[in-house]
Amino acid sequence: MTPRTIAIDGPAGAGKSTIGALAAERLGYLYLDTGAMYRAIALAALRRGIDADDAERLAKLAREVKVAIGPPTVRDGRAYTVLLDGDDVTWTIRGADVDRSVSQVARVGAVRDAMVEQQRGLAERGRVVMVGRDIGTVVLPRAERKIYLTASASERAKRRDEELRARGDIRPRQELLSEILRRDRLDSERAVAPLRAADDAIVVQTDGLSVGQALEKVLAILTAV
Ligand code: DC
Repeated sequence: MTPRTIAIDGPAGAGKSTIGALAAERLGYLYLDTGAMYRAIALAALRRGIDADDAERLAKLAREVKVAIGPPTVRDGRAYTVLLDGDDVTWTIRGADVDRSVSQVARVGAVRDAMVEQQRGLAERGRVVMVGRDIGTVVLPRAERKIYLTASASERAKRRDEELRARGDIRPRQELLSEILRRDRLDSERAVAPLRAADDAIVVQTDGLSVGQALEKVLAILTAV
């Protein structure tokens, strides 16, 4: 049987995680947020005092630590649980320090190789919605459906603000916008697997759409024959 795989890519804050998780739930597919894997490596580096520019030590780290993403183990609004060497880091990887360093960590080719290998292994089982930056272009170039979810930077900063506020994390909107623009630049200008829509991806613009509306748009594409 051909594995049924769905790739959703797009810039930070475009709603990929929310829409990806809901689409996976609706379809009864496994949901894998690959950004959480890069975030876990970035956190491991911070904890060990490894510089985000030290490619050699980051590569070694990515091969040594164990990142596991599985079903929620706590009912606190999480879509999945992330374990870093057995330690629950689901919320820690969403902190401002990880936000700042993760794009640099994700630039390292050897870190990406280690993550991509795991991601492909998971996709082999099929029935997976995989969300990230390079899923349709690099990780699963033969995914059955590819979506590139995007929105303007100001809309994404607004959503990020709302999401963080809901968790009691209040940061200036301007800071969030600068952070998004910085990550867009780092993610799309890097040499290895830069952020871009695959040639055969369907682009979904979500400016002004509610979560429900964006979800319906995505589901219509995913379920079209
Ligand atoms: O989606 P996110 O914000 O949690 O992703 C965190 C970082 O990881 C982001 O800066 C880009 C990087 N990333 C990547 O390079 N490739 C992926 N497939 C997923 C995320």
